[in-house]
Amino acid sequence: MHMNIPFLTKKDEKVNVYYKEGHTPDHIAIIMDGNGRWAQKRGLPRFAGHKEGLSAVVKVVKAAAKCKVKVLTLYTFSTENWKRPKPEVEFILKLPKEFLHVYLPEIKANNVRIEVIGNMEELPVSTQEALQYAIDSTKENDGLQLNLALNYGSKHEMIHAMKDMFADLIDEKISLDEVDEQQFSTYLDTAGMPNPDLLIRTGGEKRLSNFLLWQMAYTEFCFSDVLWPDFTEKEFMGAMEEYQLRKRRFGGIG
Ligand code: FPP
Repeated sequence: MHMNIPFLTKKDEKVNVYYKEGHTPDHIAIIMDGNGRWAQKRGLPRFAGHKEGLSAVVKVVKAAAKCKVKVLTLYTFSTENWKRPKPEVEFILKLPKEFLHVYLPEIKANNVRIEVIGNMEELPVSTQEALQYAIDSTKENDGLQLNLALNYGSKHEMIHAMKDMFADLIDEKISLDEVDEQQFSTYLDTAGMPNPDLLIRTGGEKRLSNFLLWQMAYTEFCFSDVLWPDFTEKEFMGAMEEYQLRKRRFGGIG
C-alpha cells in the first residue's frame, strides 16, 4: 500500500514522498524534545508543554501500532533530568500515572504491551504502582511493545550490565570466552529486543543525550524541528518515509 502524506519534518517545507507498507522499522526510538519551548512560546509554564506532550504520545503509539512496528521506545525521563528544578521533576514523574489513567484503555484496545526500561525504584511510589499495573494488565498483548524509558541513562545501563556480567563471570555462570556483543546485550535493559532501526528526535536539537548508545550503533537518525506537543501521525509517517529512503549498509558496501 502507498500512502501519499506530505513530509513535514523540515519547517515550511512539504515534499510528497511515499510510505510503503512492508518495509517498516522493527524498533523506533523517540527523543520527545521541545515541550518546554512549546509552552514558553504560548506564555505558559513549562509544565503545560509536558502535559500537552501526552496527547502526542498517544497519537504516535496508535500510529506505530497501526504500521505494525514491533517496539517503540520513548525517552520519557533521563538519569540527567534530575538536574531540573524539583517542581518540574516532580511534575514529569507524575505524568506516567496521569497518562495511564487517561489512555490505558485505548492502549489496551490497540493490543499494546507496556514495559519500562531504566530504574523504576527511584520513581514516586504511586507512579511505580501505576506502571506495574499497566505492565501486568498488558502482558498478554502481542502487538506493539511500548517501552517507557524512565529514569533511564545509557551509561548507567551499561555500567549496571557490566557489573552483572562480571558477577556471573566470578560465579562461573559464564566463561570469558563466551563474552561477546551478543552476550553483553543480554545484560542490558533491552535484552531480547531488536536494536532501534530508526531514531526520531523532535525539537530541532541533534544529539543523543545518553539514549541507547550501545543499541544505536547502526540506527538511522531522523531529526525534526517540530516541537513534541505538535508532533502528529503525519510527522511520524514522514519519518517512516524518510527511513524507507535510506540505504542501510551496516559498514558494508550494500
Ligand atoms: C523534553 O522536552 C521532554 C521531557 C524531558 C519530558 C518528556 C515527557 C513527556 C513527553 C510526557 C510524558 C510521557 C509519558 C508517556 C508519560 P524539554 O522539556 O527538554 O523541552 P525544551 O527543550 O523545549 O525545554
